[in-house]
Amino acid sequence: MNTGHAPIPRHLVWGDIGHARFPVCIGPGEISRIGDLWTERAVGDAALVVFDGAVAAHAQVVEDHLRAAGVRVVPVAVPPGEPSKSLAQVESICRVAARHGIRRTDAVVAVGGGVIGDLAGFVAASYQRGIALVHVPTTLLAMVDSAIGGKTGVDLPEAKNYVGAIWQPAFVVMDTDVLGSLPARELSCGFAEVVKYGLLDSFELFARVEAWPAPLPGDPEALVNLIRDCVAHKLDVVSQDEREQGLRASLNLGHTVGHGIEAAAGYGRYHHGEAISLGLLAALRVAHELHGAAIEWRARTAVVLERHGLPTRLAADVSTDEILAAMGRDKKASATSFNMVLIQEPGAVLLRQDPPREAVVAAIEELR
Ligand SMILES: NC(=O)c1ccc[n+]([C@@H]2O[C@H](COP(=O)([O-])OP(=O)(O)OC[C@H]3O[C@@H](n4cnc5c(N)ncnc54)[C@H](O)[C@@H]3O)[C@@H](O)[C@H]2O)c1
Ligand SMILES: [Zn+2]
Repeated sequence: MNTGHAPIPRHLVWGDIGHARFPVCIGPGEISRIGDLWTERAVGDAALVVFDGAVAAHAQVVEDHLRAAGVRVVPVAVPPGEPSKSLAQVESICRVAARHGIRRTDAVVAVGGGVIGDLAGFVAASYQRGIALVHVPTTLLAMVDSAIGGKTGVDLPEAKNYVGAIWQPAFVVMDTDVLGSLPARELSCGFAEVVKYGLLDSFELFARVEAWPAPLPGDPEALVNLIRDCVAHKLDVVSQDEREQGLRASLNLGHTVGHGIEAAAGYGRYHHGEAISLGLLAALRVAHELHGAAIEWRARTAVVLERHGLPTRLAADVSTDEILAAMGRDKKASATSFNMVLIQEPGAVLLRQDPPREAVVAAIEELR
């Protein structure tokens, strides 16, 4: 949507998933519109603003705009990091909400990366059996991935993302200016998911991703368009398959081996996007070996990933057996098998059941 006033056009994409229809607003300075959106969407009287302690300054701006629109604000800071995605945090946030009289007609506002989006989203899905949710993602990964699609939840000590719900937002505000404070490593991790969308979507999107210059995030206007196209891809897929009975699984390109690497290396050693970088390369090798996909897609993808500081080599001490074992434990794997998403070429996706173990082993070994 071009207002004619902003120097850089901002974009409005509509999510249409199940019974939910919601706007996703993308552009620089977009947080300043949150009060208007709140009023237009009649979200509620009070906002429980759940924010990552590392983005307190961005959360303050959100709160100021909400207060200016007459909304009662209850802020809750959460410590940064994956350990905050816990049932203990859900309890503590719900108790703050209860003490401050947050009701079913109010809303949760999640300000942060995927950790906060998943955690606060699950609070919204479960507090008083479900209240409205607004996502204000502050990482590139959260913008192109976790704030879209409705998956919310927390980790158990036993396994990641094991308790959760599907809960769609009332609206989403993606203010690309907030990426200015995001550390370079986190920007790269988000970009790994962007590369994934390029491969899944089309030659056109892949070419744009391939030509993306370092350092990230790059040209502000091109960035808004890029985020919009990733968001549109995910919304399109999820609108056809909200509960991952088929097509939605395509979004796991690079994630079968990627999750295996993340777990086998010990969570935190490779950040998610870094593990996905390696997982994408493994998937492209398997696609070549089993389905004759041109090997150039792997080579070209490796060049882009490397340019943006993402790993294309796996540390020698992360064992292939452990990676395979972790892949078998993934909650997306069945008891006896796992599936892998492959591409024939950008935009041509294949879901492969039970790829032969030797092909997967060879693709992992090639990363050494
Ligand atoms: N729901 C979904 O569909 C979905 C999809 C993908 C990932 N996820 C989940 O998302 C999480 C990962 O998300 P993430 O990569 O955004 O991680 P994150 O939320 O941990 O954020 C990464 C780091 O950046 C900091 N940060 C966030 N925004 C910042 C900003 N603007 N300026 C400075 N620092 C900032 C955070 O404090 C944190 O240290 C995982 O828990 C993963 O399971 C969910
Ligand atoms: Zn991912």
